[in-house]
Amino acid sequence: MRFDVLTLFPEQISSYFSQSITGRALKEGIIELNTVNIRDYSNDPHNSVDDYTYGGGAGMLMMPGPVYDAYKSLNVPKDTRVVYLTPVGRVFDQKYAIDLSKEKEIVFICGHYEGIDERVIDEIVTDRISIGDYVLTGGETAALVVMDAVSRLVPGVLGNETSFVDESFYDDLLEYPQYTRPEHWMGKDVPPILLSGDHAAVDEWRLEESIRITKELRPDLYEKWAVSHEEYFIKKEKKAKREAEKARKRAKKLANTNDL
Ligand code: ADE
Repeated sequence: MRFDVLTLFPEQISSYFSQSITGRALKEGIIELNTVNIRDYSNDPHNSVDDYTYGGGAGMLMMPGPVYDAYKSLNVPKDTRVVYLTPVGRVFDQKYAIDLSKEKEIVFICGHYEGIDERVIDEIVTDRISIGDYVLTGGETAALVVMDAVSRLVPGVLGNETSFVDESFYDDLLEYPQYTRPEHWMGKDVPPILLSGDHAAVDEWRLEESIRITKELRPDLYEKWAVSHEEYFIKKEKKAKREAEKARKRAKKLANTNDL
């Protein structure tokens, strides 16, 4: 996977990306990162890349020329996805990350000031992405969020290939809580079921926890999940009936023994 980032602040991108897991992926050549400073494509004696907005209004806007020339310098194939980070975009989520992770190369355009002249966006951008309903000072942090989420889906970037299969947002549920050593800490214990060695019981506990947490923190996601998982509720009802029947039989047996 290759990322090309058009930005006024290339160091913001490269310094973050060269650390930790993404840093290792860069070193191993699984991910390639190429930053282009838009200012290098200014055609103005003062190296400026922004100007006042037509129609008035506060703030400056990035001019179309330098952004377009920076993009052209990449010489990428015509069908390359070009992402513009903007609060006026489709909200990024895990499904979007999965979709982008299938690309060979992605171009990111980071805006500053009040944004970028609409004409160059119309000309080259394929995806307008927002990372949430708030406004950042620039697109760089948003590009890093998207690149990070996409990178970890690229085979080989995470040590364990399956480690993203059962985490948050897979199957529309949030991830269950996890524990490591020590078993007792500050008066809090690891849930005993996780020490039981009973894999089926652990799986069941994790699913129940995921459901509980999602219902509490993200009722919107829970509703979506519940609608598409009718079989879970049917199975749960059958299990409850079986257990009630078992309890009834036990109570009856106990009553009979007491009668003797
Ligand atoms: N640029 C400024 N705010 C942004 C946001 N919320 N998402 C993506 N890019 C942005």
